[in-house]
Amino acid sequence: MANEQRGFTSSLGAILAAAGGAVGLGNIWRYPYMLGQNGGGAFLIVNMFFVLLIGIPLMMTEFVIGRRAQSNVVGAYKKLGRKKGWGVIGYFSILAAVLIYAFYSVVAGWTLNYIVMACTNQLSGMTPAAIADTFSTFTSHSFWPVLFQLLFLILTAVVISLGVQKGIEKISKILMPLLFILLLLMVVRSLTLPGASEGLHFLFHPDFSKLSGAGVLNALGQSFFSLSLGVGAMVTYGSYIRKEDSLFKTSLWISVCDLMVAILAGVVIFPAVFSFGMDPAGGPQLVYVVLPNVFNSMPLGGLFAAVFFVLLGIAALTSTISLQEIVVAFMVEELHWSRRKSSIISMVLTFVVGAFCALSFGPIKHWTLFDKTIFDLFDLITASYLMPMLALATTIFLGWFYPKVEVKDEITNGGALNANLFELYYFILRFVAPIALLVILVSGIIG
Ligand code: PHE
Repeated sequence: MANEQRGFTSSLGAILAAAGGAVGLGNIWRYPYMLGQNGGGAFLIVNMFFVLLIGIPLMMTEFVIGRRAQSNVVGAYKKLGRKKGWGVIGYFSILAAVLIYAFYSVVAGWTLNYIVMACTNQLSGMTPAAIADTFSTFTSHSFWPVLFQLLFLILTAVVISLGVQKGIEKISKILMPLLFILLLLMVVRSLTLPGASEGLHFLFHPDFSKLSGAGVLNALGQSFFSLSLGVGAMVTYGSYIRKEDSLFKTSLWISVCDLMVAILAGVVIFPAVFSFGMDPAGGPQLVYVVLPNVFNSMPLGGLFAAVFFVLLGIAALTSTISLQEIVVAFMVEELHWSRRKSSIISMVLTFVVGAFCALSFGPIKHWTLFDKTIFDLFDLITASYLMPMLALATTIFLGWFYPKVEVKDEITNGGALNANLFELYYFILRFVAPIALLVILVSGIIG
């Protein structure tokens, strides 16, 4: 009976929930400006290559661990690792999840504020200077960003406390199709603006002269961050995937969705930005400062501003859900707390840490280490160190310490599925992925 099984009730539910975890602010807030800074289409091609070569196999690896163990991230490594030491990977995953959630929820909170402003038409008619001023005044305020962050944390916790099927799966089945519909609506609006082709050229014309070594590494790093690898999100969700679903197909679909949203976000943003003669490489401000100007210059801009920020909010919410579920699944299964208690405690914990991130744009922006604010530090520590380190540990564990027959058994669903590509996957798992991850780590360390 559907209600009695551990996780998702269908393959579609699994794909939408995990794609929801993957598709996030990273796709809309981070990807387009990275494209802007790294030669447009050149970055796109390199990133796509990394997703195919390493992203998909790594996602399958996390799924294998979760589904094999039928357990949260700590329990999974303990169970499959037999010797307790491997559980350390799980604990570090929990740490990474909390740190990411702490700074991610800040930007998610900003989005909530922009949804309110767009829906109440506060952004329309503002001069460019006023828009820029609104953003910096809001983000550096000592109260509002913290409040909006808290609201977002509460929203996420409510969904989580409803459970895997009635909360996570159900809301993903509603929000992910909605996200695609809103995105397509925005694509049509953007492409019908005069001069849209210039933006498309910028997006798809590969300018390899602008892609530096650092750009290539960014493309690799972005593929991890975007697919939510190396934090246990996919281990946790993997444990909810039905035994009869193909882990390869599930990973493929999720990655396709993730890439598609990132590319379509670019198709929304760049033609519009170029059409109104603005600067494409505007950093994170691209979304909160440049775009509101663009909306103000276009017919029905107020409506499209609202649609856009709702879209951004949805992308953020399905990701924060996956981040909190990593921690909650651990609390429920390892600490034996109720789901409700776990949701509340993990939310409070994230808020205590996260408020420092929210305030690091204003009151405590002078609290820096190596010239970085708390927000930037959390971002750096997780995306550049913890995530690649954990992903590396995962490949070493599954590729070198866990029996190959068992990996094969899980990937082929006990021999029921075609095993043609298995050797290729296994080769990537043992050699290609660890080397790529080492390169990211070393280059991150030597700066
Ligand atoms: N993949 C999400 C994004 O692109 C971020 C994320 C990372 C979510 C890790 C969960 C875990 O926005």
